[in-house]
Amino acid sequence: MAVPYQACDSSAKHYRDVIVIGAGAAGLMCAAEAGARGRSVMVIDHAPVTGKKIRVSGGGRCNFGNLNTSPGNYQSENPGFCTSALARFGSQEFIGLLEKHGIRYHEEDGRLFCDNGSLEIVGMLEKECDSSDVEIRLNCRVSGIKKQDFFAVDTNLGRFRSHSLVVATGGVSFRQLGATGFGHRTARRFGLNVTPLRPALVPLQWGRRDRTTFGTLAGISFDTAVTCSGKTFRGSVLLTREGLSGPALLQASLYWREGTPLLLDLLPRGNAYEIFLSKRQRKVEMRNLLAGYLPKRFIQTWSDIFFASKPMNQYSDRELRKIALALHRWEIVPAGTAGFSRAEVTLGGIDTRELSSKTMEAKKVAGLYFVGEVMDVTGQLGGFNLQWAWSSGYAAGQFV
Ligand code: FDA
Repeated sequence: MAVPYQACDSSAKHYRDVIVIGAGAAGLMCAAEAGARGRSVMVIDHAPVTGKKIRVSGGGRCNFGNLNTSPGNYQSENPGFCTSALARFGSQEFIGLLEKHGIRYHEEDGRLFCDNGSLEIVGMLEKECDSSDVEIRLNCRVSGIKKQDFFAVDTNLGRFRSHSLVVATGGVSFRQLGATGFGHRTARRFGLNVTPLRPALVPLQWGRRDRTTFGTLAGISFDTAVTCSGKTFRGSVLLTREGLSGPALLQASLYWREGTPLLLDLLPRGNAYEIFLSKRQRKVEMRNLLAGYLPKRFIQTWSDIFFASKPMNQYSDRELRKIALALHRWEIVPAGTAGFSRAEVTLGGIDTRELSSKTMEAKKVAGLYFVGEVMDVTGQLGGFNLQWAWSSGYAAGQFV
C-alpha cells in the first residue's frame, strides 16, 4: 500500500527483512517477488508517486518488453551478465503477470505495449506489492546508510533497519522524473566500481557546419539505416534544429562516442546506382529524381553540398557511382549528445563484475543488492530497458 506523508516509527526497532530504495520498475518488481516469498519488505522513494518513468514510458503506452529479447540487445562492459536473469524472467513471464491481472496488451514488430496505457502496469505492480503486505513509503528521503550486522537507513521518516538492502534508484537521466545519482554514490561508498555514465537513447547534435546547413530543415524525417561503431539500425531519422533524433538515431546513440562518425544510408531500400542506370537516358534532373525517394527540401539542400544537379543523361558513369556512394554513406560527425535531460536511459552504472548475475548481490558486501538501470546494463530502444528492470528485480527478489 502506498503511504504518502505518513510518519512512521523511527525507533531502532523498526526492522524489515528487506528495504528497497526506489519504487520504480525494478524496485517494485523486486519488492513484490520478495513479499510473495514471505519476506517483510519496505519500499522507500523520495517521489510522491510510484513508477514515474513507467507512467511516461512509450509515450504513456508503455513499451514494457520485447518478444525478441536477447543479451545482444544490451550494452555493458560485462556483456554476458544479463543472460541468466533474462532467461529466468523474460517477456513471457511478464506477460503471464499481465494476464493474471487481466491487462490487455499487443505486439508491434516484437515490441510489447499495453492497450490501455502504462498506468495499468503501475497499478498491477502496486497490487502485487499490496497482496504481499509490502509497504511503500513515498516522499521518503534517505540521508544516510550504515552497515553493521544490519543495514540502517536514515530517512526523513526515521531510521529503518533491514537484513537486505536493494538499491533500485535507476539512472541519472530525466531528473524531472525523480532520477538522482544516489545509487551510484551508494555503490562507491561501499567500495564498488561504477563504470562511466553517459546519456544514451538520446538525440545527437550537429557539428557547427552541419548545424548551419541542416538545422534549417528541422521537422523533416525519412527512412534510413544508421550505422555507428559497426551496428546498423533501420528506421526513421528526424532532423531537428539542434541535430538528429528519431528511432534509428536514438538506437545508434547507444554506441556513439565523441568523434565517432555516423553513416546514414539515405536509400536503404534500394541500390542508388542501379536506380540511376535505369533512368540514365532520361532528361529528368538528378535532384528531381531523388525527390521521389527523399523529402524534396532535404534533397535540395543535400544535393547542393554533394553534387551538381543536372539531367540524368549528362552524368558520366564515374559521377553516378560517386553520387550513389554518397547517398548510401552520408557521414556525419555529431558534436555531442543532447545530454541526460533528454536521454531515455543512462549508459554505464554499477560495474556488474562486482555483482552476482544470479542474485544481483554485491560480491564484497553481503546483503547489498542493485537492480535495474542503476547497473551497467543498458538496453536498446524497444522495451528492453523495462525488461531488464523486471528481470533483474525478479532475480534479486528471489534471494533477498
Ligand atoms: P526507475 O527510474 O524506473 O525508478 C527509480 C526510482 O528510484 C524512481 O521511482 C525514483 O523516484 C527513485 N529514486 C531515485 N533516487 C532516489 C533517492 N535518492 N531516494 C529515493 N528514491 C529515489 N524503457 C522501455 O523499456 N520502454 C519504454 O517505452 C521506455 N520509455 C521511456 C520513456 C522515457 C521518457 C524515459 C525517461 C525512459 C523510458 N524507458 C523505457 C526507460 C525505462 O523507463 C527505465 O529504463 C526503467 O524505468 C528503469 O527502471 P528502474 O526501476 O531501474 O528505475
